[in-house]
Amino acid sequence: MATDDTEENSSGASAINYDESLAVTREIYWVGFMEAGGRLRCNPYLLIDGRGDDVILFDPGSIPDFPKIMRKVIDLIPPQSITGIVVSHQDPDVCGNLAVIEDIVENPDLKIYAHLNTIRLIAHLGLAGSLLDVAEIDYRLTLSSGRVLEFIPMLYLHSPGAIATYDSQSKSLFSGDVFGAIGSDNDLFSKTNFPQNMDSFHQAYMPSNKVLRPAMEKLSGMQIDRILPQHGAVLEGDDVAVAIEHLRTLPCGVDLAEG
Ligand SMILES: [Fe+2]
Ligand SMILES: [Fe+2]
Repeated sequence: MATDDTEENSSGASAINYDESLAVTREIYWVGFMEAGGRLRCNPYLLIDGRGDDVILFDPGSIPDFPKIMRKVIDLIPPQSITGIVVSHQDPDVCGNLAVIEDIVENPDLKIYAHLNTIRLIAHLGLAGSLLDVAEIDYRLTLSSGRVLEFIPMLYLHSPGAIATYDSQSKSLFSGDVFGAIGSDNDLFSKTNFPQNMDSFHQAYMPSNKVLRPAMEKLSGMQIDRILPQHGAVLEGDDVAVAIEHLRTLPCGVDLAEG
């Protein structure tokens, strides 16, 4: 690992510059940053829908993270072009900066999408704009291009209003805390200790395998090319099915407290 946010390969040549936003696909960007002091890393993402007018920001992060994240967003697009923010749940690492993001976006039509159980809580963040319950739009957001984002309930994983978002065009799942990892490796596409690197996060934050298993069984029936979690590494290709199967059988939460 280099001294800044630039990863080096074995020959010492720069491979990925984490000081910049990072294109995970042609239209999906990681706008997070690597942590230096062992703090839990968060992964905000930006979807720039190239065939339409929509820009969607996923899980924008905390108050202290705001300047770094917004700098990366502004490097990609004017903030006024953000049309929607998806909030997977209400935690401070997910959406503590929503009010300041709203201020800088300055778009009166900005919509913030979340589950009602999340909206009741983030309404206390002092937001000025429109909070939209995903149930009111039948768990589907159709962008101006016709691209569909499907909201998938992940209730109690780990919040009562947790949702994931599936982009059917890129077959990408923005999974929130699910598939997250606590790790010391600062790599967005890490293979280090996969899939066991997800264990400690799920054991600590997910309520039980009884809740986790049906969610994994639902996801296993979907065509998913990549998972973009709010913590840990992006999972692609064969790792997607491996991760789903691994979590399907993982004891966590009260399973461990009882056992
Ligand atoms: Fe959380
Ligand atoms: Fe989180």
